[in-house]
Amino acid sequence: MMNYYNQDRKVSIAPMMDWTDKHFRFLIRLISKYVILYTEMISEHAIYYNRNSLKKLKSLLDYNPCEHPIIFQIGGSNIPIIKECIPIIEEWNYDGININCGCPSERVQDGKFGAILMAEPKLVANITKEIKKITNLPVSIKHRLGIKSNQIDKTNYNDLKEFIEVCYKEGGCEHFIIHARHAYLQKYNPKQNRIIPPLIYEWVYKIKDEFPNLKIEINGGIKTIEEIKKHLEYVDGVMIGRASYENTYFICSIDEFFLNQNSRLTRKEIFKKFIPYVIEQLQEGIYPHSIIPHTFGLFNGIKNSKKWKQYLTEHLLKLKQNSIENINPVDLYNLLIKSLDMLPDETYFNYEENRITTFL
Ligand SMILES: Cc1cc2nc3c(=O)[nH]c(=O)nc-3n(C[C@H](O)[C@H](O)[C@H](O)COP(=O)(O)O)c2cc1C
Repeated sequence: MMNYYNQDRKVSIAPMMDWTDKHFRFLIRLISKYVILYTEMISEHAIYYNRNSLKKLKSLLDYNPCEHPIIFQIGGSNIPIIKECIPIIEEWNYDGININCGCPSERVQDGKFGAILMAEPKLVANITKEIKKITNLPVSIKHRLGIKSNQIDKTNYNDLKEFIEVCYKEGGCEHFIIHARHAYLQKYNPKQNRIIPPLIYEWVYKIKDEFPNLKIEINGGIKTIEEIKKHLEYVDGVMIGRASYENTYFICSIDEFFLNQNSRLTRKEIFKKFIPYVIEQLQEGIYPHSIIPHTFGLFNGIKNSKKWKQYLTEHLLKLKQNSIENINPVDLYNLLIKSLDMLPDETYFNYEENRITTFL
């Protein structure tokens, strides 16, 4: 099997629940061959309790082969259960396993996974060690700068350093993805915890200085290729979250820079390339209203994009009232193609011909 993960790729798309499902990841792959993809967080229990149902496992784990390199993000801390899950993740040919130690939601705290695990570096080290005993897949940890709850205060730089040191020395983890914010577990809800705690990039840079042999990847608030380049002066990798979903077209600039790609598809061309996938999924029993909204960020900031989104949302909700066999693929195709007429034609810079080109 090809090891995609070891190729030197410096940018990844963050795991984002309900956003980075296989449909969005397919869309991203139409735009970027370079970035590393992550699944949404999937809990150990979801795999474990469905381990005897191929149908359920497929719905949790299947992805399109074009998505490689694709890393599986697991949520949980029950070592015997995690150990049962690893061979299944391997069987699905994921390129790596990532442990979620960053998610601050209440539900997650109850089940002891996500950010609360930063209070227990030895447990996280044990999880890593046990996973590594079973598989040769690379294992990484995604976490915050630190956490604070009513009972726990791990918000000093030294707490962060200790977390990494223990996970590395006792667990053998060599790749850390750091969301450069603290998480305040009771004070803020998950959304606020992605906005309110300040970004402190300098702590991540300092960790790289102190652990030069580890792969240190930075995450949080990064929105442009210029920002990516700046961070890469200090760390090994950059993970992009919301900007990839809300302003998807910006991802083109990543392949342009890292793969020296000198022409890009227009937004409309990308959307058109996505349509056959939507039709294929319809035939697999997936309604288009659960796929098409993933394309909305592609036209972010473009004139009439709000009207276009509204138009598609209304029509797709109408389609949802039909049973899936009654949705005619040709009608769906025509609806999607016709919707593009609402959006302006795009201009882009044609590098080869060194001139501005208009796409009709
Ligand atoms: C809708 C949404 C869902 C998320 N789900 C996950 C998740 O499943 N696992 C995880 O580690 N982080 C999750 N995150 C956090 C992101 O991976 C990322 O760390 C965070 O958004 C900060 O990066 P950004 O500023 O580039 O968005 C989620 C974020 C959003 C917006």
